[in-house]
Amino acid sequence: MSSAKKIVVYFAHLAIEQSVINRTLRDAVGDLDQIDFRDLHELYPDFFIDARAEQAVMREAELIVFQHPIYWYAAPAIFKHFLDTVLLRGFAYGPGGDALQGKDFLLVASTGAPAEEYSPEGIHHNTFEDLIRPIEQTVRFCGMHWLPHLVLHGGHGLPQDVVDAHAARYRQFLEDYRPASQR
Ligand SMILES: Cc1cc2nc3c(=O)[nH]c(=O)nc-3n(C[C@H](O)[C@H](O)[C@H](O)COP(=O)(O)O)c2cc1C
Repeated sequence: MSSAKKIVVYFAHLAIEQSVINRTLRDAVGDLDQIDFRDLHELYPDFFIDARAEQAVMREAELIVFQHPIYWYAAPAIFKHFLDTVLLRGFAYGPGGDALQGKDFLLVASTGAPAEEYSPEGIHHNTFEDLIRPIEQTVRFCGMHWLPHLVLHGGHGLPQDVVDAHAARYRQFLEDYRPASQR
């Protein structure tokens, strides 16, 4: 392939200076050669996403990662706007819309609540997997391959060594990543 990066990480956080988990994860992978790390709020502070530019980035990537904290059972709003403006008919679906077919997709997310609260008995009443169904289905609808997601629960007050170990797993996953054609 061309000199384009084979992994693109899309990232968003509303208050990165207060972040523990996502800042640690960002710092753990940001220097990897094969990654194009794209902070959506930094690139598009006014939300005017350059759809053509992002489509070109996605076209070249083999693995597309969305990394973010969970806000109200979903991604930060700019991710929804990204989906609505970039995953267009003729690009991501519909006639001629095969640009994302066969690519891998990885969700890397963090929650404030501990894992046990994501269950029918917990305060969130649903499993985490139930709540991320819309993004999983979006990914599948566009012909991408949904990889097992990487989630760190209990973000409020986790010991730093737990966060660091998670960040190391994330980095290792990206370092070891091979496109489907090479697996
Ligand atoms: C606007 C907002 C909404 C949030 N909604 C949820 C939620 O629905 N479920 C949850 O477990 N945590 C929720 N949280 C907590 C964040 O997910 C948590 O603080 C974050 O994942 C920790 O990562 P960080 O250290 O990178 O900020 C919310 C936080 C904010 C600011």
